[in-house]
Order: sequence, then C-alpha cells, then structure tokens
Amino acid sequence: MKQLEGKVAWVTGAGSGIGEAAAIALAGEGAAVVLTGRSRDKLESVAGRIGAAATVEAGDLTQSDQVQAIAGRIVKKFGRLDILVANAGTNIQHRAWAHLTAAGADELIAGNLNSVFYCITAVLPAMRAQQDGVLILTASMAGRFVSGLSGPGYVAAKHGVVALSHSLNMEECVNGIRCTAVLPGEVATPMLDKRPVPASAEERARMAQPADLGDLIRYIACLPKRVVMNEVMMCPTWNRGYVAALKTKL
Ligand SMILES: NC(=O)c1ccc[n+]([C@@H]2O[C@H](COP(=O)([O-])OP(=O)(O)OC[C@H]3O[C@@H](n4cnc5c(N)ncnc54)[C@H](OP(=O)(O)O)[C@@H]3O)[C@@H](O)[C@H]2O)c1
Repeated sequence: MKQLEGKVAWVTGAGSGIGEAAAIALAGEGAAVVLTGRSRDKLESVAGRIGAAATVEAGDLTQSDQVQAIAGRIVKKFGRLDILVANAGTNIQHRAWAHLTAAGADELIAGNLNSVFYCITAVLPAMRAQQDGVLILTASMAGRFVSGLSGPGYVAAKHGVVALSHSLNMEECVNGIRCTAVLPGEVATPMLDKRPVPASAEERARMAQPADLGDLIRYIACLPKRVVMNEVMMCPTWNRGYVAALKTKL
C-alpha cells in the first residue's frame, strides 16, 4: 500500500518548480493533492499530469480571506486535511537596498511570510481536531544565513518562516502536529528568472532540481507521527557560494 493513501495534502505554489514536484511526489505516494497558485492554467496543467488525485484551487495567498476560503473548501470536500506544503514564495528583481522600495518590501513580506501565516492559521483547526497533521514550509538557505544574492526583504521573510516552523513544534507538539522547515539552496526553477543576473543553462543543470525537493517533501510527509524533522537544508553539491569562496582563497 502506498504510504499516503487516504491522506489529503494542500500544496501551495503547485503550478511550477518545487511545488509542482512536491504535488506529483505526494500524489505518487497515494495522497489526494489540492493545488494552489494564482495562475489557474499552470495548476490545470499540473493537475492534468497527476490525474484524478488532483484538485485545483486557484487563489492569491497574500489575501487571507481567499486562503481561509480554500482551506474551508478542502475540509468540506474531503472531511480532513493532513498535510500542508506551504511552498509558494516570490522575489523581486530590484531587491538590494540600493533599489528596494517600501512597495517592494511589502510584496516580499506579503508573498513570503504573511501568506505562510495565513495558510498555517487556516489549517490548524482541522489538524487539531484530527490530533494529527504535517506542515512543511519551504523556507530557504537564506532563512538561516544572510545572503546578498537573495536581498534583505526575502532574507528577512525566510528567517521568519524558519522561526514560524520551530514555534509551531513548540506549541502544537501536544496535538500530534509537526512542522518541518525545508531550506533549499539553489534549485533550478522559474524563480531564478527573477534574478538580476539570471543563471546560465549550464549553471542550472548543476543545481538541485525540483524533483530532488519533491522527493524530500514526500519523505518528510511519510515520517511516522512520533518523529519530526525540525529543519532540513538541501543544496547543490556544486554550491556556487562555496565554489566562489574557494576561488578567492586560491
Ligand atoms: N529556486 C530556488 O533556488 C529556491 C531556493 C530556496 C527557496 N526557494 C523557495 O521555494 C519555493 C518555491 O519556489 P520555486 O523555486 O519552485 O519557484 P517558482 O517555480 O516560481 O514557484 C513559486 C510558485 O509560487 C506561486 N505563488 C507565488 N506567489 C503566490 C501568491 N501570492 N499566491 C499564490 N501562489 C503564489 C507561483 O505561482 P503563480 O505565480 O501562478 O501564483 C509559483 O508557482 C519558494 O518559497 C521559494 O522562495 C526557492
């Protein structure tokens, strides 16, 4: 029997990149998957590849009323909500302090931190009622180390996501609820197109791939209820930050 049969997983940012790969991996393990993002077309395309196990729930996660409504529809349709993969996130091109505006800061905090708060608060009542639930939050290596490449707004928001994850385990452990902060290094996804200097095709081929993260998320979702993987970092072996540091030493 597949390990997630009978389980319901809500994956945000499921129209591309890591979220798409996570949805495919969780469905492959038997879960019913609910796919959220803003672009319905992208979600329908992923759902088409998954088949009957996928349900599309398009919405903007920076709008708390939309998030609440989606969670409500999931619980109404399935009668449960077992796994949240709060993965949607964003960055902006003009991210360095030299260019950052208040509007840019708002966009980064809304799209990377508030949205995660909204998803968590929307799923906790169902998970508490079940006395069981897995939350997997896609943070970033930039959520643990301050990085110029990612920019201050993104770095601050992702540090916040890591903090949310640990605080959830501190409070909700008594309710059978466990949360993992996933901290990827560079992953070859469409998000990299927003970089001020986009990586080349050769560089992207050496990065972690979406399926690597999808498989990690599937693994975390399948862990027995008695354990929690509090935080996990997955980076390319050819870590461009490390390689650059080696070059300056030589
Ligand atoms: N790629 C990397 O190197 C890397 C490294 C560390 C962490 N991460 C994190 O990994 C996560 C997934 O990113 P990715 O790399 O897979 O990039 P991606 O392909 O751009 O995926 C991000 C997804 O989030 C959705 N999204 C963004 N804002 C949204 C909103 N307000 N409401 C609903 N959906 C929204 C996007 O779909 P729509 O535009 O259709 O809404 C998109 O499908 C993000 O949290 C990112 O910060 C990525």
